[in-house]
Amino acid sequence: MATVKHVENVPQTQLDTNMAKTKPVKLGWKPEQIDKISHALNSVLANYNVHFQKLRNFHWNVTGSDFFDLHMEFEEQYKEALDHIDEIAERIRIFGETPFGTMQEYLNESEIKESSSTQMNSDLMVRELLSDYRILLQYLNAILQIATEQHDAGTVNMVKGFIKKIEKHHWMLSSFLAK
Ligand SMILES: [Fe+2]
Repeated sequence: MATVKHVENVPQTQLDTNMAKTKPVKLGWKPEQIDKISHALNSVLANYNVHFQKLRNFHWNVTGSDFFDLHMEFEEQYKEALDHIDEIAERIRIFGETPFGTMQEYLNESEIKESSSTQMNSDLMVRELLSDYRILLQYLNAILQIATEQHDAGTVNMVKGFIKKIEKHHWMLSSFLAK
């Protein structure tokens, strides 16, 4: 029977340090910092989810001579929105907090409102999405400010990427209306 060799002076894991035993703070963030950041992230998460469903609605129900262009463009945008939503929710989990996960929470918390696709022509759909993007930009810029104040580089980087992409959608959809 093989004997187990005893090894001396093996480095201890971080979980064995006194700090982790006495105060299980996630990544060193203070509770008030976590509160500020995760609350702001949850607000934009709610707005983004309502916007995402709107993009899918418009993708399915757009009609008219713009159908092929907008059907494809809305699909591109909802796929991107889905990625952003996932990143935001997981960022909230990184702080040990709970992202909103139900449609009811999204509808209650979102400033962006649902809209029916019936009786909406393609121009109205685009106007509606432009309005959504302006709202999302407001929320994202607010998060950028909060995260910068808290020296939260991870959230700052994430949000900067989203802002850049949304600004581009805003330009493109505005140009579409200028046809
Ligand atoms: Fe589709």
